[in-house]
Amino acid sequence: MSDATTPATAAPAPVSMDNLVALAKRRGFIFQSSEIYGGFNGFFDYGPLGAELKKNIRDCWWADMVQRRDDVVGIETSIIMHPKVWEASGHVAGFSDPLVDCKVSKQRYRADQLFFSPVVITGADGVAQTVGYVSALESENTAGELQSAAESFKRKKAIQGTLSPVVAKDLTEAREDEIALIPSPATGEPGSLTAPRAFNMMFQTNVGAMTDGSSVAYLRPETAQGMFVDFKNVVDTGRVKLPFGIAQIGKSFRNEITPRNFIFRSREFEQMEMEYFIHEDADWSKVHEEWIAWCEAWLKSIGLPDSHLSRYAHPKEKLAFYSRGTVDIMFKYPFGVQELWGIAARGSYDLTQHANASGKPQEIFDEATKKKFVPHVIEPAVGVDRIFLAVLCAGYAEEAVTDEKGNTETRTVLRLSPRIAPVKVAVLPLLKNKEVLVARAQALYKKLQRRYAVFYDETAAIGRRYRRQDEIGTPWCVTIDFDTIEKPGDTFTLRDRDTMQQRRVTEAELFALLEEHVY
Ligand code: GAP
Repeated sequence: MSDATTPATAAPAPVSMDNLVALAKRRGFIFQSSEIYGGFNGFFDYGPLGAELKKNIRDCWWADMVQRRDDVVGIETSIIMHPKVWEASGHVAGFSDPLVDCKVSKQRYRADQLFFSPVVITGADGVAQTVGYVSALESENTAGELQSAAESFKRKKAIQGTLSPVVAKDLTEAREDEIALIPSPATGEPGSLTAPRAFNMMFQTNVGAMTDGSSVAYLRPETAQGMFVDFKNVVDTGRVKLPFGIAQIGKSFRNEITPRNFIFRSREFEQMEMEYFIHEDADWSKVHEEWIAWCEAWLKSIGLPDSHLSRYAHPKEKLAFYSRGTVDIMFKYPFGVQELWGIAARGSYDLTQHANASGKPQEIFDEATKKKFVPHVIEPAVGVDRIFLAVLCAGYAEEAVTDEKGNTETRTVLRLSPRIAPVKVAVLPLLKNKEVLVARAQALYKKLQRRYAVFYDETAAIGRRYRRQDEIGTPWCVTIDFDTIEKPGDTFTLRDRDTMQQRRVTEAELFALLEEHVY
């Protein structure tokens, strides 16, 4: 059963965020939250296919991180916890980003994402002078944008002389006298930006009937604290022995100053975090490295290509005082290489903080030394939404395909791993008005549906039906055709999304294929 096409050999064009966002909306992966009211910045809804894909990412992580390991247990803690949790963890005092206001446009910026440079010109007398400032929001090419802004500044002001290359700094590095001279990105004029100030990103709410200061509580900004606060409960009830991990998947909330890049940085998102507790004398750097490698291998197991992944080790001088080391697994998004998964070695900081604040020791008894100690922790923390975006970016392609008559068309394909694809297989009777084909297709569909997310489609020409499945990332289509009915063997045409190759398979072979790839 031919869709009569072959992939062209040319390299696919780079993915554009606009195309991805359009596909996500068109095919029901992601919608703006509250769209009929104009949307709500930093919040998103997942549509039917998006909810399925997101669930598959979560399920794969849970299966591999919790169910298939003997040393990790899973928990689910409340989103709103005692406010003292966030005092002890340091979030009340310090979970902030530097905020800059533009007093004229009322726009707000994160100071570390707003860059500036002096415009320095050397005159005929050989003297270099700062003649003004330019600014640009962080992008893949911040320095380039600042340089063009500096050139245009010189041109507009008709200043003679040689322009020096720009030196990009962010607003947290600006001197007080410079801030008044740096143009606001909103107005292009200087004089309206405020000095950076700390902006706490926790969402506040009130618990109970009173809405005074005594009832203030917070939506959690991370799931991690749930694991620390329940540490003793798990130890006392879970028959766990060091080293062991406690994992959790759940929503987190941050009042981000500049939510952006679609679902990359939003105000409500989902985290998958695991706290791996080790002996205070354990070789933490070895365990840290093992977890970094585990996370990389896991990302590849759900289809992210090696070529898009890299590591970033946080410089020692930028780490929190208690942190021993943090490595981020970075992903090459269309808007730049950005953090996907942070793996931090946090020492015994969190448990010690909670022990001190609650007065309840958070220790473990060491049988060997007969001493109690506070375990240390390695924390791999990742956002489900960031993985979601990464798999869309890595899988999306628009490619030219040529049919048997030599006609070329463009197909949009989402190369999602069968592990996470929202639909595993589409069942397509060749013709909808041939009862025998429809009956066989329906029987297969119902049988597959007991175990897998399957799609049944009898509308439109077969080629169009294949294209629809390509676009939503369905790895395989099976077509029930006349050979199924008329020839011995009860075989179907199995069409592969990526190669577009077709072959005949039996029902048993189809189930075996799914069993092998969907786990
Ligand atoms: N407990 C440690 C912690 O929460 P983090 O680096 O702040 O560390 C961990 O967050 C991961 O959560 C990030 O690597 C990212 O994948 C995801 N994440 C953080 N903020 C996010 C946001 N505003 N929107 C989407 N994902 C976010």
